[in-house]
Amino acid sequence: AAAGASAATALGTATAGRGERIARTRHFLMCRPEHFAVTYSINPWMDPAAGADAARAVEQWEALRAAYLRLGHRVSLIDPIEGLPDMVFAANGALVVNGRVYGARFAHPERAAEAPAYAAWLRANGFSEVREPAHTNEGEGDFLTLDHVILAGTGFRTEVAAHQEAQEFLGMPVVTLRLVDPRFYHLDTALFPLDGTNVAYYPGAFSPGSRAVLERLFPHAIIADERDAAVLGLNAVSDGRNVVINAEAAGLIETLRRHGYEPVPVDLSELRKAGGGPKCCTLELRSRQEAA
Ligand code: ARG
Repeated sequence: AAAGASAATALGTATAGRGERIARTRHFLMCRPEHFAVTYSINPWMDPAAGADAARAVEQWEALRAAYLRLGHRVSLIDPIEGLPDMVFAANGALVVNGRVYGARFAHPERAAEAPAYAAWLRANGFSEVREPAHTNEGEGDFLTLDHVILAGTGFRTEVAAHQEAQEFLGMPVVTLRLVDPRFYHLDTALFPLDGTNVAYYPGAFSPGSRAVLERLFPHAIIADERDAAVLGLNAVSDGRNVVINAEAAGLIETLRRHGYEPVPVDLSELRKAGGGPKCCTLELRSRQEAA
């Protein structure tokens, strides 16, 4: 009986029995917010009169980076550029899938210069297939990649034509989702992938049609409420098991735990003054998949 029990345990570990979530190690690109500030307003979170504290933002960002390293992820850094206060939001710098880089093209002139900076870093770091986009898109802010589909937001920043351009360039199906609440101006403020096949999201951020699409694609999704969304709780990063998430999203954190995920709460309250959270600070670098 003892031998049987230990065999079952070994099997359980290898195949991750029911409720056991499996983490996959990631490679992230981040940008230390040395020049962070709120000097203009391009979303409802930003109040230039209230400003923001760059030193505090750096401290919080360092804790986010430390959390990723503790979880075993790899973090690369791009040098921040003076005069680009939002460059900390690396997610917007590009979309990297299967080693191919679909470059960003920002909706607002204040951030335009970030796109070539991220493209140059990626080229210099081994990503040779970089597509300069013909259409406005804000990288992973509006493109979220699952195993067999890329979910793409539109309505505030990224154009539908960019969804089509990305699909053609990356050879992945891209599903357009329409955002309707200005507080949730990027897809990654309203939805995050839990793993390669499931997501968590706040339905109120989406048009009725897009909500129906999400229900059809993800019948087992985790549904967040307005309180979670209002603290940017959906701007989270999951590795399939551990979910790095704003600490204020208490309800969602509890729900994630109930579903077998391991929440890793972080405090990014200073960066939220620009409308960003953990995911905004994080660009995933997905290397080329070897043919099976
Ligand atoms: N202030 C930035 C902007 O409005 C925040 C970007 C947040 N990034 C994100 N991936 N949601 O563009």
